[in-house]
Amino acid sequence: MTKSAKSFRENLRKSGVFFTPKKLAEYMRSFFPSDVAEIYDPTCGDGGLLAVFEGARKYGQEIDEEQGNYAATNLVEAQIEIGDTLADDKFKDRKFRYIVANPPFSVEWDPKTDDRFEGFELAPKSKADYAFILHCIHHLDDDGIAVVMCFPGVCYRGQREGKIREQIIRKNLLDRVVEIPGGDFDDTSISTVLLIFRKNRQTNSVVFEKKETGETREVNLDEIEKNGFNLSVCQYIEPKSDKAKIDPVAEQIKGRDSALKWLRASIRVDATVCELERFRQPEFDHVDFLNRLQKIIAEEKAAFLKKWKERIDPTRVQMELFGL
Ligand SMILES: C[S@@+](CC[C@H](N)C(=O)[O-])C[C@H]1O[C@@H](n2cnc3c(N)ncnc32)[C@H](O)[C@@H]1O
Repeated sequence: MTKSAKSFRENLRKSGVFFTPKKLAEYMRSFFPSDVAEIYDPTCGDGGLLAVFEGARKYGQEIDEEQGNYAATNLVEAQIEIGDTLADDKFKDRKFRYIVANPPFSVEWDPKTDDRFEGFELAPKSKADYAFILHCIHHLDDDGIAVVMCFPGVCYRGQREGKIREQIIRKNLLDRVVEIPGGDFDDTSISTVLLIFRKNRQTNSVVFEKKETGETREVNLDEIEKNGFNLSVCQYIEPKSDKAKIDPVAEQIKGRDSALKWLRASIRVDATVCELERFRQPEFDHVDFLNRLQKIIAEEKAAFLKKWKERIDPTRVQMELFGL
């Protein structure tokens, strides 16, 4: 690897798109017992999440060869395999007592059924989130725990994903849902959710938790069913009444900052990948991506201004006043 390609990778790693910040990894670690002997991460990247399980034997798979090699050389007591976890599961015959994962959010995959997805709907082609989740559940031992960091959309998106969520709840595999607000950890500008799975559970409830306030609530599966199997934490834990009222403008300002930060990180990742791949696929062009972004912005701006103009058009206001 050339020096510049290597530093690109380093930057990518630092940009947070490909790795789990240490504090967040330690937070995820806190859901496991202290004496974990073996731990598996099916999308292990450079091994950041596995690294916090000191003293444990580590197993991981990673699609990106450089990151996987980085993990293999930097982790002690580790077996790291390179390849696509969904298309080519390198740990096919293994079960693990402890699984931790921070899979990519809502990426495309090639849906094909196999034992991992038996008894469940197949995740949609455009969103692999539930394919990764079901992969983790499949590899989980009967007395194990899996902690998976997810995009909040997995809690409420409908259609096939809604059906899979229902199947997971009906099989009583979900133990806890933890809401993590954006900006709670360095490099996590978007909000996320931890889904914690266990098999052979003795209770008929799921614990919902807001990390921000520490509030928790144990919710019966019947109530979750009544809510159409929606798992959004806000559905079950009301904002505290004595809390200061939410200022929508302040919230939106925070949301804008997060969105811009995320957008810039995504643009830089695209630029980096185009740079790295330019010899193999010269037609894969970063400027084309920027042009498409610009087009979206121009369209949204035009639509917004048109609506705004219509609203302040005096004739229209008069017509509305006189009910015409
Ligand atoms: C958000 S990162 C998390 C990395 C790692 N767990 C950590 O803590 O540093 C997601 C990782 O999943 C990898 N990945 C994406 N799709 C994959 C797939 N189909 N199979 C295996 N790894 C995949 C990406 O290359 C990336 O390294």
